[in-house]
Amino acid sequence: MLVETLAIGVCGTDREICAGKYGSAPAGSDRLVIGHESLGRVLEVPQGAGFDVGDLVVGIVRRPDPVPCPNCAVGEWDMCRNGQFTERGITGRHGYASDRYRIEPEFAVPVDAALGALGVLVEPTSVVAKAWDHIERIGARSAAWSPRSVLITGAGPIGLLAAMLGAAKGHDVDVVDVATDGPKPGLVAALGATYHAEPVAGLAARADVVIECTGVPKVVLDVLSNTGPDSIVCLTGVSSGGRALPFDAGGVNRDMVLGNAVVFGSVNANRRHYLTAADALHAADPQWLAALITRRVPLDSFAAALAPSAHDVKTVISFAT
Ligand code: BGC
Repeated sequence: MLVETLAIGVCGTDREICAGKYGSAPAGSDRLVIGHESLGRVLEVPQGAGFDVGDLVVGIVRRPDPVPCPNCAVGEWDMCRNGQFTERGITGRHGYASDRYRIEPEFAVPVDAALGALGVLVEPTSVVAKAWDHIERIGARSAAWSPRSVLITGAGPIGLLAAMLGAAKGHDVDVVDVATDGPKPGLVAALGATYHAEPVAGLAARADVVIECTGVPKVVLDVLSNTGPDSIVCLTGVSSGGRALPFDAGGVNRDMVLGNAVVFGSVNANRRHYLTAADALHAADPQWLAALITRRVPLDSFAAALAPSAHDVKTVISFAT
């Protein structure tokens, strides 16, 4: 299909790529077109592909490895075993931040016209839809699993979308972040969740589920060092390594063993998660979703979008249509 780009969301990964700290260009190319959080409109589509001209679509980020590994072979490229996957706009494959792009229909996700410009949130929501999917699969190890309290560390877009999904599931959600002003406390309150700007350790100890969305080493360590009984901790922040912190491995091990705690990492999303994400966004309050997008920057000012600014939640680059 040929798709015209309407909007591209910017996240920490894009900033890392632009700083030369992450990502890679396609083989044989010395540059990478970025853009993995996309929203576009179909311009041309072969008959029978399941889309019509004018449909809104989001492009899936990851492509299966060519071997393929057992997971990629069944469409679970988010669980790729051999690391030979590619990611549009991130790893070895051009992204969606071009006026037009081509995409295989099976890697495009339909977006309801009613969601409109908010469809640019489908990709980041897919990442937390996957995290919740795996939390629930792990939770099912115990027949009576019914989490009461969910802690989200970090009130960036990923943290807030994870909180939105948790609240929609009926859980008591707490969100902890360093910000004391700006839009984050209000966005959390509007979900019916509780906002905290206080040390993480005590909050983590009381939570049945923790979704760590900062990737900040000290926060990660506080979460790992304070697992509660039967708790599930999902790590989603891609942090840069190289900074060592003292760590009581024996104490953490003892607490995790005696408490049946699970700590796991979660990255990316497969097609099923994108569809779950699109449904969840469709069911969410559009005003709340619109308030997550704190900055829309025209394409010719793209550099401003890549520079973080205080009180930003999600920045989006708008393409001329
Ligand atoms: C993207 C994921 C990707 C991950 C690692 C994130 O920013 O949302 O789709 O798998 O970076 O490259």
